[in-house]
Amino acid sequence: MPARPRLAALALLGALSASVFAQPITLKIDASAPGKAISPDLVGIFFEDLNYAADGGLHAELVQNRSFEYNAAAQTDWSPLTCWEFVKRGGGAGSLWVDDSGPVHPNNPHSALIQILDTGEGVGLSNPGFDGIAVRAGETYDFSIFTRVLNVGARRDNRPVGKLPLSVRLETKDGVVIGEASVEASSPAEWKQLTATLTATQSVTDARLVVLVKAPGLIALDEISLFPRATFKGRKNGLRADLAQIIADLRPKFIRFPGGCLVHGDGLSNLYRWKDTIGPVEQRKGRRNIWRYHQSVGLGYFEYFQFCEDVGAIPIPVVAAGVSCQNSTRTRGTGQQAIPMSEMPAYVQEVLDLVEYANGPATSTWGAKRAAAGHPEPFGLKYLGVGNEDKITPEFTERFRMIFEAMKAKHPEIVVIGTSGPASDGEDFDRGWKVADELRVPMVDEHYYKRPQWFWDNLARYDAYDRAGAAVYLGEYAAHDDRRRNTLRSALAEAAFLTSLERNADIVHFASYAPLLARRGHTQWSPDMIYFTGTDITLTINYHVQQLFSVNHGDTHLATTVSPLATPARFAASSVRDSRTGDLILKLVNGDASAKPLRIELTGEKNLPATAVKTVLTGPDENTTDARTVRPESSPISIAPAFDYEAPAHSLTVIRIETRR
Ligand code: AHR
Repeated sequence: MPARPRLAALALLGALSASVFAQPITLKIDASAPGKAISPDLVGIFFEDLNYAADGGLHAELVQNRSFEYNAAAQTDWSPLTCWEFVKRGGGAGSLWVDDSGPVHPNNPHSALIQILDTGEGVGLSNPGFDGIAVRAGETYDFSIFTRVLNVGARRDNRPVGKLPLSVRLETKDGVVIGEASVEASSPAEWKQLTATLTATQSVTDARLVVLVKAPGLIALDEISLFPRATFKGRKNGLRADLAQIIADLRPKFIRFPGGCLVHGDGLSNLYRWKDTIGPVEQRKGRRNIWRYHQSVGLGYFEYFQFCEDVGAIPIPVVAAGVSCQNSTRTRGTGQQAIPMSEMPAYVQEVLDLVEYANGPATSTWGAKRAAAGHPEPFGLKYLGVGNEDKITPEFTERFRMIFEAMKAKHPEIVVIGTSGPASDGEDFDRGWKVADELRVPMVDEHYYKRPQWFWDNLARYDAYDRAGAAVYLGEYAAHDDRRRNTLRSALAEAAFLTSLERNADIVHFASYAPLLARRGHTQWSPDMIYFTGTDITLTINYHVQQLFSVNHGDTHLATTVSPLATPARFAASSVRDSRTGDLILKLVNGDASAKPLRIELTGEKNLPATAVKTVLTGPDENTTDARTVRPESSPISIAPAFDYEAPAHSLTVIRIETRR
């Protein structure tokens, strides 16, 4: 264990031998006791553009590499034309180049330049989206494109003015047209955005978007985009409705974004800069993603804040602490780069500007940009993460201090969340906490990915944390089972740990499982909470656990004595009250292979009903990974001031008692 005294484990769960499991366990809860006020916002989510979580994921854009900005920095065989096929139909002839001589915007330097010599049945481009474009019969799709007509006419009779008709199609991979629209590009040679609506006539999972120029000439194309009209909440430049809904169903109390390692980046040039991600999408600065692909930042800071608001979650953005990831340029811990001190004042200002962007009046410089995007009201930012799992070097500390003190001076209302390195203990952990203690940082972000047994063995971790010190945000955690599978065993280890977080939610204010999303076939990290393709979403048992704890949160923890206790722990419980409804909520986790008889003594509740609702998550085998069969099942349960309940083998049970207060 680390030197920090607050981590000296209590012997809370560790007195008796495993043999006591043959006996029934008694739980005693005194509902008349005032209990302990706890964070009502304990369970939220951490979103990072990892595993194609944003482009090709939550962002509903269906075209891949829409702005021709893919390049070899992200993947060695990528270029601006990756995912684009030059198509010449029915005798069409012409040429295609990548052009950077007259960009739509300097942040978006490349476009496709097409010369059409013979029209045939059309010359243009085809894009397969992300593993094929999934469309549904009868649904509407919004197409847009930036065009710049440089010439009209073929070969010897070029005319500098005129019009070029474009046919826009959804095609099956066999070339059957299943949706079509027309737009007309016209000179003068300035970029113009054209829009059209397509309605799919068939449902397919692997359509292509095809844009055909239907007359001779020279035309530049950029920002070729296709969105389903039905985005989440119908937002423009919106989110994929089914994925966003699955996330909303978690009822996350907060959303941490946009990363992760993504934030502090692969070297200084790769730091995530929030200002690059706002404004008209064609003006945003796409960038190499640290997870070795490209991020268009179509899902940018405005959309993140908007999503938080749409799902009722507290926004928790994270900015780099003026240093890059210590593993930058594949250095394994020695690659941290620090912003030169001469540039730090500008960087600090950039961080302060984020608060103005989120909360400032619509008349302020940055608040005006938020208003221009359609949100004159403030987003109500209260928390800001500074740093992610950084190596706690003198360079880090100096820069973190600058940002922290500037924020305290200018925006004392913002709770800054510090960082404690990438592990549950060790040098960076201790140093991160030391920095936080010295500067009196109000909250510290901890991260750990551990074996399931570690979570069972560390149920007392936060019992000993110093209540006078910083609060904790457990920003990333997950139980990593063998082959990094999403097993029932891993989910129950997380559930057991969550009972300990609830017990300690006076000091642990937030906790988020990580990572959240993974597109099948494009996954750099596992396990994840939700897997998806273009059409399907697969939940995990870990998702069910997160949802059960989130939906059944409370704001008061009621002391719960469990006897006998056993070592190693295989049973964990917590009891909370939700003061808005008055409901009492018991959570019982049995990690054992046999059912556990429980005697539950619930004293001091005047309005105890005769029945409650129990929701059980269990499966026949803790190795199981199938979240369709291992899913929460709810049913009534008879209760009394003292009642018996048998917790099934390998199970989480939530008993929700309406007390009609
Ligand atoms: O959650 C995946 C990664 O794990 C995050 O980017 C990083 O913070 C951690 O190492």
